[in-house]
Amino acid sequence: MHPLWCALQSLKSSTPMSPSCWFLAFAWVWWLPLVLVAAEEQQAEGCSAKCGNLTISHPFWLTDWDTGRLCGSPGPPEFELTCYNSTYPLLPSSVPNNAGFAIMDVSYKERGLRVVDLRKLQLLHDPPSIFNDCLPIWNTSAKLGRQFKISPVNLELILYNCTEKAAAAARREKELVQAKTMRCMNTSNTFVRAGVPYDRTGNYSGYALEDCDPIVLPVLRLPSGKTNASHYERLIQSGFLLKWE
Ligand SMILES: *[C@@H]1O[C@H](CO)[C@@H](O)[C@H](O)[C@H]1NC(C)=O
Ligand SMILES: *[C@@H]1O[C@H](CO)[C@@H](O)[C@H](O)[C@H]1NC(C)=O
Ligand SMILES: *[C@@H]1O[C@H](CO)[C@@H](O)[C@H](O)[C@H]1NC(C)=O
Ligand SMILES: *[C@@H]1O[C@H](CO)[C@@H](O)[C@H](O)[C@H]1NC(C)=O
Ligand SMILES: *[C@@H]1O[C@H](CO)[C@@H](O)[C@H](O)[C@H]1NC(C)=O
Ligand SMILES: *[C@@H]1O[C@H](CO)[C@@H](O)[C@H](O)[C@H]1NC(C)=O
Ligand SMILES: *[C@@H]1O[C@H](CO)[C@@H](O)[C@H](O)[C@H]1NC(C)=O
Repeated sequence: MHPLWCALQSLKSSTPMSPSCWFLAFAWVWWLPLVLVAAEEQQAEGCSAKCGNLTISHPFWLTDWDTGRLCGSPGPPEFELTCYNSTYPLLPSSVPNNAGFAIMDVSYKERGLRVVDLRKLQLLHDPPSIFNDCLPIWNTSAKLGRQFKISPVNLELILYNCTEKAAAAARREKELVQAKTMRCMNTSNTFVRAGVPYDRTGNYSGYALEDCDPIVLPVLRLPSGKTNASHYERLIQSGFLLKWE
């Protein structure tokens, strides 16, 4: 029984409140200020559903990276975000022990997110001396929860990790650009292709290169409507559009 319900019932029926109702109403009024104080304290500690510049609301919910504190109502695990360093929200990867996505923008009206694939971003950092001792790099589409879809407005970028022999052939292909800096790969044997139209079924067999492992990731088009493989670093840093259902 809610105390407010008790009060409304007694008003409507003009019968006196039952003793249990009286007790509840009393307790409710008495507790109210304490509840309000607790809520204010939470706000003061930064536990509002805001992370960096972004407001987190339904269907997303948030736990704080540092304090582990929960903000918002718990919802489906796919929509659980963590607020990284009070800077930006992280969307988890569906692959265990794999870095997820940094959310840069959100549109609740369009059900859209602009996100950066953090694992691909790591590839752009200064390469360690050993490049063949890395965790596998997944295609971006393989890391998404079931409710998330890559928007067809993106174009795909393909990174090819080639054997030495295949690299010689790849160097002759005009539309491929050799990578400048790339963690986990020998840049002499790594090539980038841009401008590949998004395929809903994930069939990129038309772009396969013999003896080269492809990694497929979406990027946003440049204002010209195209992408240019030479600018792959900036393209990866700018992220891509995701939709949720
Ligand atoms: C956390 O954010 C602050 C600025 O808000 C920044 O100075 C600091 O480097 C960030 N720490 C990490 C680990 O990103
Ligand atoms: C927040 O927004 C301001 C202005 O739009 C921008 O300068 C700043 O970099 C943003 N901060 C983050 C963490 O995105
Ligand atoms: C690239 O290929 C080399 C040699 O085949 C392999 O050791 C390395 O792990 C591959 N890198 C990625 C990111 O798949
Ligand atoms: C990287 O590839 C080049 C050319 O295929 C090869 O000469 C070089 O030895 C490779 N680097 C390492 C560290 O294996
Ligand atoms: C990534 O996608 C390409 C093209 O669809 C596929 O050939 C490749 O096996 C995929 N890689 C992984 C690690 O799933
Ligand atoms: C993928 O596309 C190619 C044409 O680009 C086609 O020949 C092939 O049958 C397709 N594979 C699947 C599994 O749909
Ligand atoms: C891609 O960018 C490079 C370097 O900025 C430029 O030289 C090249 O002409 C561009 N390619 C296309 C097709 O626009």
